[in-house]
Amino acid sequence: MSERTLVLIKPDAVQRGLVGEVLNRFERKGLTIEAMTLRTMDAALADAHYAEHVTRDFYPPLKNFMTSGPLVALILSGDQAISVVRALTGATDGRVAAPGTIRGDLSLSNRENLVHASDSEDSAKREIALWFPGL
Ligand code: TYD
Ligand code: MG
Repeated sequence: MSERTLVLIKPDAVQRGLVGEVLNRFERKGLTIEAMTLRTMDAALADAHYAEHVTRDFYPPLKNFMTSGPLVALILSGDQAISVVRALTGATDGRVAAPGTIRGDLSLSNRENLVHASDSEDSAKREIALWFPGL
């Protein structure tokens, strides 16, 4: 069944020139880009996007990182896109993420891990509404 999911190609990926590399992996898998924009997150959007994490110790440096420069926000669609994109992205901590995944191949950090991907149908709906109101 076709699903939509919200992906952020984070500021570290933009800064490192890895946007094409990351997009290429999603495109080669067969996912469809439904919408895409370059944007810098402000504090309010960071707090809304990471609502489940705002009270965590790791949140202040995460917010600082996520608002540090432009990122690429996109909606991807395809069969089971939510779990497929999570699998391609890999575990949160790039140091332990499996080789073959985006984070496993390209990140050595638990914070600067290149990609955000919605983790459930509810998250995808909420995050798509936040980043692409009306879509
Ligand atoms: P989380 O939703 O747990 O991970 P994921 O992005 O894999 O869904 O956490 C959100 C982001 O917060 C994560 O991508 C990187 C950052 N983070 C830290 O900086 N330190 C941490 O200990 C954790 C768990 C996450
Ligand atoms: Mg998450």
